[in-house]
Amino acid sequence: MLIKRPADIKSSEITPESVYRNRRAFMQGLTAVGSLAATTGLYYLFAGANRRPPAGPGPQPLTTVAPSDRPLTTDEPLTDYDDVTHYNNFYEFSTAKHDVADEARALATRPWTVVVDGLVGRARTFDVDDLIRRFPLEERVYRLRCVEGWSMVIPWVGFALASLLKLVEPLGAARFVAFETLHDPRQFPLQRGRLLDWPYREGLRLDEALHPLTLLAVGLYGKTLPNQNGAPLRLVVPWKYGFKSIKSIVRLTLTDHMPRTTWREAVPREYGFYANVNPQVSHPRWSQATERRIGEFARRPTLMFNGYADQVASLYAGMDLRKFY
Ligand code: MTE
Repeated sequence: MLIKRPADIKSSEITPESVYRNRRAFMQGLTAVGSLAATTGLYYLFAGANRRPPAGPGPQPLTTVAPSDRPLTTDEPLTDYDDVTHYNNFYEFSTAKHDVADEARALATRPWTVVVDGLVGRARTFDVDDLIRRFPLEERVYRLRCVEGWSMVIPWVGFALASLLKLVEPLGAARFVAFETLHDPRQFPLQRGRLLDWPYREGLRLDEALHPLTLLAVGLYGKTLPNQNGAPLRLVVPWKYGFKSIKSIVRLTLTDHMPRTTWREAVPREYGFYANVNPQVSHPRWSQATERRIGEFARRPTLMFNGYADQVASLYAGMDLRKFY
């Protein structure tokens, strides 16, 4: 996993996607050979073929309406459901992408409340189901580009963050939105340690938060979010590196100052507040010019603002995009 303090990086982790592919190829090879019971056991152990079912009923079907704005959705081929739900970054559970789904299966996502407060006219606390019922749910197919250099195409289900923010009536002084993941070390094993300064925090400028592309996702592939993808409610900001898309949100606070954000605090030399996808600005330890789409072999060029420049570039007029901020 590459989003780490430099000292934590093992060379074996520098190309997580190729490690992942090699492991798959290795497992396929083992399966071909595999009449030996020991081999089969290894296969199950490593490939996760004995994945336990979710503790609850598992993802449930969601009813969606047609997207309000077709250009917001890409028609690129979707990443396999199995990859979307078993190649995850969710550091509260594990730093190993393939372990997250299993570690997250017992997360209790009901009851769940979401507080929206700070510089608003009407601070509110919502039960998450009540919140979800308030808005028509749209399917939005977005590219997700992780700062580590891999990407996916995911059919999210959700509603515009702007719809929620309008309900609470932002005050004129509000300029940013701060987001927080649930802090519950009983449920998130890695919150018992100091890997990051918990809870996970993220933030957006208010105009970014109000942008029509900015989604609060409650599902993917037509069903409620699997726990490992940030159930019951997560942010999706498709033109920014994936770490901005905070999972399992319990609080949104409108502020007049740039909020503290987890990765910027952990490694300020490497992760900025804006974190807009930009192929011309290298990460201090690797190039961002290309990416590996999960499910493909060859790398492909990374697009400015992850391909959403037409919609969002104007938000940053006059800013030096090479600066980390
Ligand atoms: N949110 C929380 N709370 N904890 C995390 O570790 N990881 C981020 C982001 N949101 C993370 C998080 C990173 S680095 C990425 S790339 C995306 O979630 C991954 O989302 P996915 O697993 O659904 O693909």
